[in-house]
Amino acid sequence: MGNLKTGNYEGVTWAMAPVSLWGARLNVCVYLVDGLLVDTGPGRFAAEFGSFFKSQSIKQAVITHYHEDHSGNARRLERQGVPVYIHPSSIPICEKKAELPMYRRYFWGRREAFSPLPLPDVLETENVRWQVVETPGHCFDHIALFNPATGAVFTGDLVVTPKTKLVMKTENIPQIMDSLRRLLGYDFGVVYCGHAGPVANGRELVRAKLDYLENLSGQARELHQRGWSLRAINKKIFPGMVPLTVLSGGEWASAHMIRSLIEDDDYSKKDR
Ligand SMILES: [Fe+2]
Repeated sequence: MGNLKTGNYEGVTWAMAPVSLWGARLNVCVYLVDGLLVDTGPGRFAAEFGSFFKSQSIKQAVITHYHEDHSGNARRLERQGVPVYIHPSSIPICEKKAELPMYRRYFWGRREAFSPLPLPDVLETENVRWQVVETPGHCFDHIALFNPATGAVFTGDLVVTPKTKLVMKTENIPQIMDSLRRLLGYDFGVVYCGHAGPVANGRELVRAKLDYLENLSGQARELHQRGWSLRAINKKIFPGMVPLTVLSGGEWASAHMIRSLIEDDDYSKKDR
Protein backbone atom coordinates (compact mmCIF):
# COMPACT_ATOMS: atom_id res chain seq x y z
CA MET A 1 0.00 0.00 0.00
CA GLY A 2 2.72 2.42 -1.04
CA ASN A 3 3.57 4.91 1.64
CA LEU A 4 0.80 3.93 4.04
CA LYS A 5 1.63 2.31 7.35
CA THR A 6 -1.21 0.41 8.95
CA GLY A 7 -1.76 -1.16 12.35
CA ASN A 8 -4.25 -1.78 15.12
CA TYR A 9 -4.53 -0.18 18.53
CA GLU A 10 -7.06 -1.54 21.03
CA GLY A 11 -9.40 -2.73 18.28
CA VAL A 12 -9.04 0.38 16.13
CA THR A 13 -7.33 0.01 12.73
CA TRP A 14 -5.18 2.96 11.75
CA ALA A 15 -3.62 3.93 8.42
CA MET A 16 -0.97 6.61 8.39
CA ALA A 17 0.75 8.47 5.55
CA PRO A 18 3.99 10.36 6.16
CA VAL A 19 4.10 13.74 4.42
CA SER A 20 7.26 15.77 4.05
CA LEU A 21 7.91 18.91 2.09
CA TRP A 22 10.62 21.57 2.38
CA GLY A 23 11.84 20.07 5.61
CA ALA A 24 8.39 20.01 7.25
CA ARG A 25 7.30 16.52 8.31
CA LEU A 26 3.85 15.49 9.35
CA ASN A 27 1.86 12.26 9.48
CA VAL A 28 -1.77 12.08 8.52
CA CYS A 29 -3.88 9.36 10.06
CA VAL A 30 -7.30 7.82 9.38
CA TYR A 31 -9.05 5.23 11.55
CA LEU A 32 -11.49 2.38 11.09
CA VAL A 33 -13.57 0.87 13.87
CA ASP A 34 -16.86 -1.05 13.80
CA GLY A 35 -17.26 -0.31 10.07
CA LEU A 36 -16.82 3.43 10.66
CA LEU A 37 -14.02 5.30 8.93
CA VAL A 38 -12.89 8.47 10.70
CA ASP A 39 -11.44 10.96 8.18
CA THR A 40 -10.42 10.10 4.63
CA GLY A 41 -6.83 11.36 4.20
CA PRO A 42 -5.47 13.89 1.68
CA GLY A 43 -5.94 13.62 -2.10
CA ARG A 44 -2.17 13.48 -2.53
CA PHE A 45 -2.39 9.87 -1.31
CA ALA A 46 -5.57 8.98 -3.22
CA ALA A 47 -4.12 5.75 -4.66
CA GLU A 48 -2.80 4.53 -1.28
CA PHE A 49 -5.92 5.40 0.72
CA GLY A 50 -8.09 4.12 -2.16
CA SER A 51 -6.54 0.64 -1.95
CA PHE A 52 -6.77 0.73 1.87
CA PHE A 53 -10.50 1.55 1.61
CA LYS A 54 -11.03 -1.32 -0.84
CA SER A 55 -9.25 -3.79 1.45
CA GLN A 56 -11.55 -2.98 4.40
CA SER A 57 -15.23 -3.27 5.19
CA ILE A 58 -16.35 0.37 5.47
CA LYS A 59 -20.05 1.02 6.10
CA GLN A 60 -19.98 4.74 6.98
CA ALA A 61 -17.47 7.57 7.22
CA VAL A 62 -17.25 10.65 9.43
CA ILE A 63 -15.04 13.64 8.69
CA THR A 64 -13.89 15.54 11.78
CA HIS A 65 -13.69 18.84 9.83
CA TYR A 66 -13.71 19.92 6.22
CA HIS A 67 -9.95 20.63 5.75
CA GLU A 68 -8.54 18.91 2.67
CA ASP A 69 -6.16 16.59 4.55
CA HIS A 70 -9.24 15.04 6.23
CA SER A 71 -11.78 15.23 3.40
CA GLY A 72 -9.46 14.69 0.39
CA ASN A 73 -10.72 11.20 -0.47
CA ALA A 74 -14.38 11.61 0.52
CA ARG A 75 -15.61 11.60 -3.07
CA ARG A 76 -13.79 8.31 -3.68
CA LEU A 77 -15.67 6.73 -0.73
CA GLU A 78 -18.98 8.05 -2.01
CA ARG A 79 -18.23 6.41 -5.36
CA GLN A 80 -17.78 3.16 -3.42
CA GLY A 81 -21.31 3.69 -2.01
CA VAL A 82 -20.16 4.72 1.50
CA PRO A 83 -22.27 7.45 3.15
CA VAL A 84 -20.04 10.28 4.41
CA TYR A 85 -21.06 12.50 7.35
CA ILE A 86 -19.81 15.94 8.38
CA HIS A 87 -21.05 18.73 10.66
CA PRO A 88 -23.98 20.41 8.82
CA SER A 89 -22.27 23.83 8.87
CA SER A 90 -19.63 22.85 6.30
CA ILE A 91 -21.80 20.90 3.85
CA PRO A 92 -22.03 23.87 1.40
CA ILE A 93 -18.21 24.10 1.35
CA CYS A 94 -17.84 20.36 0.68
CA GLU A 95 -20.31 20.49 -2.19
CA LYS A 96 -17.85 22.66 -4.14
CA LYS A 97 -14.37 21.67 -5.24
CA ALA A 98 -11.83 23.17 -2.80
CA GLU A 99 -10.08 26.34 -3.98
CA LEU A 100 -6.75 25.95 -2.23
CA PRO A 101 -3.67 28.16 -2.07
CA MET A 102 -0.85 26.61 -4.09
CA TYR A 103 1.23 25.44 -1.13
CA ARG A 104 -1.76 23.49 0.26
CA ARG A 105 -2.57 21.97 -3.12
CA TYR A 106 1.05 20.92 -3.36
CA PHE A 107 1.28 19.62 0.22
CA TRP A 108 -2.10 17.83 0.45
CA GLY A 109 -3.35 17.50 -3.14
CA ARG A 110 -6.78 18.38 -4.47
CA ARG A 111 -10.13 17.90 -2.82
CA GLU A 112 -13.01 17.14 -5.17
CA ALA A 113 -16.59 18.21 -4.47
CA PHE A 114 -18.59 15.64 -2.52
CA SER A 115 -22.07 15.40 -1.02
CA PRO A 116 -21.86 14.68 2.72
CA LEU A 117 -24.83 13.98 4.97
CA PRO A 118 -25.43 16.05 8.14
CA LEU A 119 -23.80 14.37 11.13
CA PRO A 120 -26.40 13.66 13.85
CA ASP A 121 -25.67 14.16 17.61
CA VAL A 122 -25.46 10.39 18.01
CA LEU A 123 -24.23 8.13 15.21
CA GLU A 124 -24.93 4.42 15.37
CA THR A 125 -22.67 1.74 13.97
CA GLU A 126 -23.25 -1.98 14.43
CA ASN A 127 -22.04 -2.13 18.04
CA VAL A 128 -21.43 1.47 19.10
CA ARG A 129 -23.49 4.58 19.78
CA TRP A 130 -21.00 7.34 19.01
CA GLN A 131 -21.44 10.69 20.74
CA VAL A 132 -20.59 13.68 18.61
CA VAL A 133 -18.79 16.40 20.62
CA GLU A 134 -18.74 19.85 19.02
CA THR A 135 -15.16 21.10 19.31
CA PRO A 136 -14.84 24.26 17.16
CA GLY A 137 -11.83 26.56 17.12
CA HIS A 138 -9.36 24.94 14.73
CA CYS A 139 -12.25 25.50 12.34
CA PHE A 140 -15.95 26.17 12.84
CA ASP A 141 -17.24 22.68 11.92
CA HIS A 142 -14.78 20.66 14.01
CA ILE A 143 -16.17 17.68 15.95
CA ALA A 144 -14.77 14.85 18.07
CA LEU A 145 -16.29 11.36 18.21
CA PHE A 146 -16.56 9.64 21.56
CA ASN A 147 -17.24 5.98 22.30
CA PRO A 148 -18.72 5.86 25.85
CA ALA A 149 -18.23 2.08 26.06
CA THR A 150 -14.44 2.11 25.54
CA GLY A 151 -13.50 5.73 26.33
CA ALA A 152 -11.89 6.12 22.90
CA VAL A 153 -12.15 9.58 21.38
CA PHE A 154 -11.29 10.65 17.84
CA THR A 155 -10.10 14.23 17.92
CA GLY A 156 -9.18 15.26 14.35
CA ASP A 157 -7.04 18.39 14.63
CA LEU A 158 -8.18 19.51 18.09
CA VAL A 159 -5.01 18.44 19.88
CA VAL A 160 -2.19 17.43 17.42
CA THR A 161 0.60 18.81 19.63
CA PRO A 162 0.53 20.07 23.24
CA LYS A 163 2.72 23.10 22.51
CA THR A 164 1.26 24.77 19.44
CA LYS A 165 3.53 27.51 18.15
CA LEU A 166 1.72 28.57 15.02
CA VAL A 167 -1.81 28.28 13.71
CA MET A 168 -3.82 29.16 10.63
CA LYS A 169 -5.22 32.67 10.29
CA THR A 170 -8.80 31.46 10.78
CA GLU A 171 -8.24 29.61 14.07
CA ASN A 172 -9.89 30.82 17.26
CA ILE A 173 -7.70 29.94 20.26
CA PRO A 174 -10.14 30.81 23.10
CA GLN A 175 -12.69 28.62 21.27
CA ILE A 176 -10.12 25.78 21.07
CA MET A 177 -9.58 26.17 24.84
CA ASP A 178 -13.36 25.91 25.43
CA SER A 179 -13.44 22.80 23.23
CA LEU A 180 -10.58 21.20 25.20
CA ARG A 181 -12.49 21.96 28.44
CA ARG A 182 -15.66 20.48 26.96
CA LEU A 183 -13.80 17.33 25.93
CA LEU A 184 -12.32 16.95 29.42
CA GLY A 185 -15.92 16.66 30.65
CA TYR A 186 -16.08 13.26 28.92
CA ASP A 187 -14.61 10.14 30.47
CA PHE A 188 -12.12 9.37 27.70
CA GLY A 189 -8.78 7.56 27.76
CA VAL A 190 -7.10 6.97 24.39
CA VAL A 191 -7.03 9.92 22.02
CA TYR A 192 -6.97 9.03 18.31
CA CYS A 193 -5.41 12.15 16.78
CA GLY A 194 -5.63 13.03 13.08
CA HIS A 195 -1.87 13.55 12.88
CA ALA A 196 -0.17 12.08 15.98
CA GLY A 197 -1.87 8.67 15.76
CA PRO A 198 -3.25 6.87 18.84
CA VAL A 199 -2.14 8.47 22.15
CA ALA A 200 -2.49 6.16 25.17
CA ASN A 201 -2.41 8.91 27.81
CA GLY A 202 -4.82 11.09 25.87
CA ARG A 203 -6.24 12.85 28.93
CA GLU A 204 -2.78 14.05 29.92
CA LEU A 205 -2.19 15.33 26.40
CA VAL A 206 -5.46 17.30 26.35
CA ARG A 207 -4.78 18.65 29.85
CA ALA A 208 -1.21 19.63 28.86
CA LYS A 209 -2.45 21.50 25.80
CA LEU A 210 -5.07 23.38 27.80
CA ASP A 211 -2.48 24.29 30.49
CA TYR A 212 -0.08 25.54 27.82
CA LEU A 213 -2.72 27.69 26.12
CA GLU A 214 -3.98 29.09 29.44
CA ASN A 215 -0.44 30.02 30.35
CA LEU A 216 0.13 31.64 26.97
CA SER A 217 -3.14 33.51 27.26
CA GLY A 218 -2.08 34.85 30.69
CA GLN A 219 1.28 36.05 29.35
CA ALA A 220 -0.22 37.68 26.25
CA ARG A 221 -2.98 39.35 28.23
CA GLU A 222 -0.58 40.74 30.83
CA LEU A 223 1.65 42.32 28.17
CA HIS A 224 -1.41 43.65 26.34
CA GLN A 225 -2.69 45.27 29.52
CA ARG A 226 0.70 46.92 29.92
CA GLY A 227 0.21 48.52 26.51
CA TRP A 228 2.31 46.22 24.32
CA SER A 229 1.27 45.91 20.67
CA LEU A 230 0.26 42.49 19.29
CA ARG A 231 3.39 42.54 17.15
CA ALA A 232 5.66 43.19 20.14
CA ILE A 233 3.92 40.47 22.19
CA ASN A 234 4.42 37.98 19.37
CA LYS A 235 8.09 38.87 19.03
CA LYS A 236 8.63 38.49 22.76
CA ILE A 237 6.82 35.13 23.13
CA PHE A 238 7.72 33.60 19.74
CA PRO A 239 11.06 35.07 18.63
CA GLY A 240 12.21 33.96 15.17
CA MET A 241 10.25 33.04 12.08
CA VAL A 242 9.25 29.47 11.19
CA PRO A 243 9.78 28.49 7.49
CA LEU A 244 6.10 27.47 7.13
CA THR A 245 5.06 31.06 7.87
CA VAL A 246 7.01 32.22 4.81
CA LEU A 247 6.04 29.25 2.61
CA SER A 248 2.35 29.65 3.40
CA GLY A 249 2.40 33.38 2.63
CA GLY A 250 1.53 34.08 6.27
CA GLU A 251 -1.47 31.70 6.45
CA TRP A 252 0.35 29.85 9.26
CA ALA A 253 1.91 32.09 11.91
CA SER A 254 2.44 32.51 15.64
CA ALA A 255 1.10 36.08 15.24
CA HIS A 256 -2.37 34.59 14.60
CA MET A 257 -2.23 32.88 18.01
CA ILE A 258 -1.42 36.13 19.79
CA ARG A 259 -4.09 38.09 17.89
CA SER A 260 -6.72 35.44 18.60
CA LEU A 261 -5.76 35.15 22.29
CA ILE A 262 -6.31 38.91 22.68
CA GLU A 263 -9.05 39.77 20.19
CA ASP A 264 -11.20 36.63 20.35
CA ASP A 265 -11.15 36.62 24.15
CA ASP A 266 -14.18 37.86 26.09
CA TYR A 267 -12.11 40.14 28.30
CA SER A 268 -10.95 42.10 25.28
CA LYS A 269 -14.52 42.43 23.95
CA LYS A 270 -15.61 43.91 27.28
CA ASP A 271 -13.02 46.69 26.85
CA ARG A 272 -14.49 47.86 23.53
FE1 LIG B 1 -7.26 20.83 10.00
